[in-house]
Amino acid sequence: MRKAVYPGSFDPVTNGHLDIIERAASKFDVLYVAVLENSGKKPLFTVEERIGLLEKATKNINNVKCVSFDGLLVQFAERMDIDTVIRGLRAVTDFEYEFQMALTNKNLYPRLDTIFIPTNLIHMYTSSSIVKEIAKYKGNFESMVTEDVKKALEEKFNGKEENEK
Ligand code: COA
Repeated sequence: MRKAVYPGSFDPVTNGHLDIIERAASKFDVLYVAVLENSGKKPLFTVEERIGLLEKATKNINNVKCVSFDGLLVQFAERMDIDTVIRGLRAVTDFEYEFQMALTNKNLYPRLDTIFIPTNLIHMYTSSSIVKEIAKYKGNFESMVTEDVKKALEEKFNGKEENEK
């Protein structure tokens, strides 16, 4: 069985991520979308919330499994018997960091190869941080996320506003 993992923070999942998920899922028997638990980033959504949003967004793609992982990606890959990592590339600026991660992972676990999928042009400048910033200041970010993610972001920021009163 051909298995791959698409790891990330997904805080929250954007349409840019979904584009990569759809394209990767069509090339493997199973695609694990794996949310990192021990990220250095301070997330807006809990791991459970992020997985919930990913599950809703990918409900029509049968071979996608949304999971979380802790520790190193190579440990997760070895445990799950996965030998391919999927990463999306947006601009040249992503490349150096991605290349470093791919080479380090390969060094730590030689079976593991990374496949880069270039992002769709319309998602080139999308990122979870940008979406969160636009949502925080009540801008229009509809084209960047699913309806469920839009609602979840509005609840987070409206909820915060209510609590601050
Ligand atoms: N469309 C839109 N946005 C995209 C995107 C796409 N196709 N691809 C990436 N992004 C954005 C994300 O939204 C995110 O934006 P943000 O920084 O504003 O939140 C950013 O690009 C990068 O995030 P992500 O793809 O989630 O990666 P990451 O850098 O947060 O995490 C891991 C990368 C999880 C793969 C890596 O840290 C890891 O494997 N960690 C485990 C520990 C480990 O093994 N360390 C050794 C690695 S060498």
